[in-house]
Amino acid sequence: MLYIIGIGLGNEKDISINGLESVRSCDVVYLENYTSKLMFKIEDLEKLTGKKIILADRELVESGEEILKNANEKNVALLVKGDVFSATTHTDLYLRAVKQGIKTRIIHNTSILTAIGDTGLSLYKFGKTASIPYHYRNVKTPIEIYENNKEMHTLFLLDLNPKENKYINYKEGLKYLLENSQGKISPNNKVVICAALGTEEQIIKYGKINELLDIEINVYPQCIIIPGKLHFMEEEVLELYKIQ
Ligand SMILES: C[S@@+](CC[C@H](N)C(=O)[O-])C[C@H]1O[C@@H](n2cnc3c(N)ncnc32)[C@H](O)[C@@H]1O
Repeated sequence: MLYIIGIGLGNEKDISINGLESVRSCDVVYLENYTSKLMFKIEDLEKLTGKKIILADRELVESGEEILKNANEKNVALLVKGDVFSATTHTDLYLRAVKQGIKTRIIHNTSILTAIGDTGLSLYKFGKTASIPYHYRNVKTPIEIYENNKEMHTLFLLDLNPKENKYINYKEGLKYLLENSQGKISPNNKVVICAALGTEEQIIKYGKINELLDIEINVYPQCIIIPGKLHFMEEEVLELYKIQ
């Protein structure tokens, strides 16, 4: 049996009761360690679940062999930060498990893709999500996605490397957007910065790019939103986060 369980954005207590009970029933428990930042000590989740947790890097999850071999014989859980299918990488493992006849159960949780609702921006009005990678020289896709989203809101995720504790700061993301959009995004554009959403350290700031470049936000992970056409209620909520 293979459980794929979202553990949410905050601390170890964000796992659902269904998720917790499933982990407690497992013989082997993995925690993927590459799609987002773990916001608590792994020992705290081990204490809560009573299970030894194996940190799984990209290679272990994407090759999938060890996880699927174990899931063929025993109860296995793969814990995913945020929600299960809110990163591009876990669908393949799920599909392979199903094709191999392994019984699977998905247990959901909060994702960055829904936590951005805290900004007041309607989740129904977001277009395609863009990702700004570490090595962004000559990378055009995020700008193309922004343009194609037209009046819809655009979420820009910022690359990370949790193994080396490295996270792109929003300022680097904004500079990438200014330098690569051929003037379509200017210092006067208003954007929203979200940091550590769903945690006690959560920060949301709204303002012009040039104003946001003048402040410091040093909690991670972070993402950027360029709002599209705003409904008056969206504007009203965003005003709560306006930088002074
Ligand atoms: C692949 S996505 C996260 C996928 C994860 N499975 C989920 O459901 O949230 C990782 C990116 O989302 C953004 N992100 C994740 N958690 C965040 C948070 N709590 N606050 C702000 N941005 C976050 C960062 O840009 C990060 O690089």
